[in-house]
Amino acid sequence: MREPPSIGEHIPPDRTLMGPGPSDVHPRVYAAQSEPMVGYLDDSYVEVMADVQEGLRYLFGTDNEHTLAISGTGSAAMEAAFANLLEPGETALVPSNGYFGDRMGQVASRTGAEVVSVDAPWGEPLDPQDVGAAVDRHQPDVLGVVHGETSTGVRQPAIDELAGIAHDHDAYLVVDTVASLGGVEFHTDEWDVDVVYSGSQKCLSVPPGASPITFGERAVEKVLSRESPVRSWYLDLEGVWEYWDDDPSYHHTGPISTTYALRESLRMVAEEGLEARWDRHERVAGAIKAGVEAMGVPLAVADEHWLPTLNAVSVPDGVDDGAVIDRLLDEHGIEIVGGLGALAGEIFRVGCMGHTARPPNASTFVAAFGDALAAEGANVDVEAGAAAVATALRS
Ligand SMILES: Cc1ncc(COP(=O)(O)O)c(C=O)c1O
Repeated sequence: MREPPSIGEHIPPDRTLMGPGPSDVHPRVYAAQSEPMVGYLDDSYVEVMADVQEGLRYLFGTDNEHTLAISGTGSAAMEAAFANLLEPGETALVPSNGYFGDRMGQVASRTGAEVVSVDAPWGEPLDPQDVGAAVDRHQPDVLGVVHGETSTGVRQPAIDELAGIAHDHDAYLVVDTVASLGGVEFHTDEWDVDVVYSGSQKCLSVPPGASPITFGERAVEKVLSRESPVRSWYLDLEGVWEYWDDDPSYHHTGPISTTYALRESLRMVAEEGLEARWDRHERVAGAIKAGVEAMGVPLAVADEHWLPTLNAVSVPDGVDDGAVIDRLLDEHGIEIVGGLGALAGEIFRVGCMGHTARPPNASTFVAAFGDALAAEGANVDVEAGAAAVATALRS
C-alpha cells in the first residue's frame, strides 16, 4: 500500500487573465457553477440544457435545431465538426495561416480524409480569390476557416463570401469561432455557414469544458447519411443529439456544473445584447491597441485585419519577451502569453475577452506593460500610452 499523499490546501493566485483564454470569470458564473449537483437526466437539468440551446441560438445567430454544447474544450468541438462531416476518402480544405488552421488539418486527417490547404502567410487572412482557386482545384467536401485566429490576432473577413464559394462547389463550410464568438460580430444563418463551433473559456468567460456547436440542416443530412460510422464514439453526434433532444436519453454524463455556468453566461449575453457586447470588446481592445501603439510598440497586424479579442503586439527589438511576460505576472498579476510557432518571440498575445474586456483592465494593462517593457530595456513612452488609453476609453 502506498502512503496517503499529503495534499495541502490550494489557494489560486489572484490573476487578471489577458492571454488568449481562459478569460476572467464573472462572479455570477462562479456562483452558478457551484449550484447543487443533480442527475444528468433530472428534469431540472434537462431544462438547463434547453435554456443553453436557446442562449446558444441567439449567440450563434441561428435557428438551427442542432445547437448544443459539446462536453469538452474547443478542440473537442473542432473534432466533432470534422469527424462527423468527413468520411474516409473525402477531402478537407483548411487554412495555412495560423496555428489553429493547422490543427484543423491534423484533426481532419484523423478522419481518413485527404487534407489540402489554402496558402496564406501567418498574420494575413485568407483571400477569397485564393480560396476560390483552391476549391476549384481540389473540389473539397469540407472547407474549414478560422474566424478569429488566436495565434496571429487576425480576423477572417468575408465569411459569407467563403460560404458562397463552398456551396457553389457542393462543399460544406465549417468555421472556428473559439476565440471570437460573443466578442466579435458573427451571423451563422445570415452568412449561410453550415457548421460553427466555439469554446466556453474565451468570450463567454465560462470555465473550459462545454463548447458550443451548431449544425445547419444540410450538414445534419450529410451526417445522417454517412456510409461509415464516425470514428469517435464519444463525439458521434447522432448519440450526442439524442442527449440534447426534447425527449433526451443517456449518452454520457453531461458536465453539469459547467453547463450551469454556461447557462448563466448566456443569460448575461442576452441581458447585455450581442451588439453592445461586440461594441464593448471593440472599445476596450481598441483602447489597449491605442495605448501600446502610442507607447511606440506597433501591432503585428494591419488595422483592417485586427481581431479585437486578441491584440498581437510586436516584441520590440532586443527585448526578451519571456522576461516581460514573467514580470507582468509576478509584479502585476496579469497573464499574457507569447507567440506560437512561426511567431514565437515575435509577438505578445494580449487577450480581451468576455469579463476581461472591461475598461479598467485596459488602463491597468497598458501601464503595467509599459513598466515591464521599460524595465526590460525597451524604449517606450509610458505616459503617452496611458494618455492614449484614457482618450480612447472616453470617446
Ligand atoms: C481559434 C482556436 N481554435 C481552437 C482552439 C482550441 O480550443 P481548446 O484549447 O479549448 O481545446 C483554440 C484555443 O486556444 C483557439 O484559439
